[in-house]
Amino acid sequence: MIVVDQVTKTYGNKKILQNVSFTVEGGELVSIVGPSASGKTTLFYSIIGAETVDSGNIFVDQYEVSKLKTSKIQEYRRKIGIIFQDYKLLPKKTVFENVAFALEMAGYPKRFIGKRTKEVLKLTGIEEQRNNFPHQLSGGEQQRAAIARALVHAPELLIADEPTGNLDPDNAIALAKLFLKINRTGTTILIATHNKDIVNEMERRVISIQNGRIISDKQNAGYK
Ligand SMILES: Nc1ncnc2c1ncn2[C@@H]1O[C@H](COP(=O)(O)OP(=O)(O)OP(=O)(O)O)[C@@H](O)[C@H]1O
Ligand SMILES: [Mg+2]
Repeated sequence: MIVVDQVTKTYGNKKILQNVSFTVEGGELVSIVGPSASGKTTLFYSIIGAETVDSGNIFVDQYEVSKLKTSKIQEYRRKIGIIFQDYKLLPKKTVFENVAFALEMAGYPKRFIGKRTKEVLKLTGIEEQRNNFPHQLSGGEQQRAAIARALVHAPELLIADEPTGNLDPDNAIALAKLFLKINRTGTTILIATHNKDIVNEMERRVISIQNGRIISDKQNAGYK
C-alpha cells in the first residue's frame, strides 16, 4: 500500500508538488496523467526516495520513505522495479548485463540469473539485442531494455515513468497488455504517461495532475 500524504515540494521558489495526497492499495494499477512539467517524475522520485519532499509523508508498506537510511533504502528499492523516463541503462554493460545486474546485486545463483534474464528479454522483445551496448540500440530498444531490467526481479511494486515514450503505437498497446498481465499476478503498478491509447487500453484508475495538484482521481477511466 502506498500513502502519499499532503506532499509539497519546491525547486527554488517554484512549487512543483502542492499538497498531493492519495492512497494506492496493493494490487492496484494506476495511471498518472498530466501535462509536461506537472510534477509526475518529481512525484515518482519522491516515492522511490530519490528526492526529498519539503513537507508531508510518503509510506510504502512498512517503509516511511522520507525517513529511510541508506541501508534501508537499498532494501526498499529491491522490492520495487523502476522504469526511468531517461532509462538510466549502464553504458558499459550490454543489454543482458544491464538486466542481469539487478539479480547479481541481490545475490541470486548464476544459473537462475541466466535463465530468468533470458525469459524477461524475450517477454519484452529485446532478446536479439542482448549482446549490444545501449549506444547501439534505437530509442525503443533502450526503452525495452529498461522495462526488462525493471521486471527481472519480479518486483512487488512497478513504477513506470513514461514507459511508451519511444514505442510505436502497436508496441505501446502490447506493453499496456503486458502491464495488465503483470498486474493480474498481484504486482502494484504506477504509470506516468501522456499516452492516451495505453490509458484507454488499460481502463483502470487514472489520477490527473496539473501544476503539481491532483485535479481528478477516477476508477476504470479513460484519458481523452
Ligand atoms: N532537479 C530539479 N531542479 C529544478 N527544477 C526541477 C528539477 N527537476 C524537475 N524540475 C522542474 O519541476 C517541474 C516538474 O518536472 P517533472 O519532471 O516532475 O514533470 P513531469 O510531469 O514529469 O513532465 P514530463 O511529462 O515532461 O516528463 C518542471 O518545471 C521541472 O523543470
Ligand atoms: Mg516526467
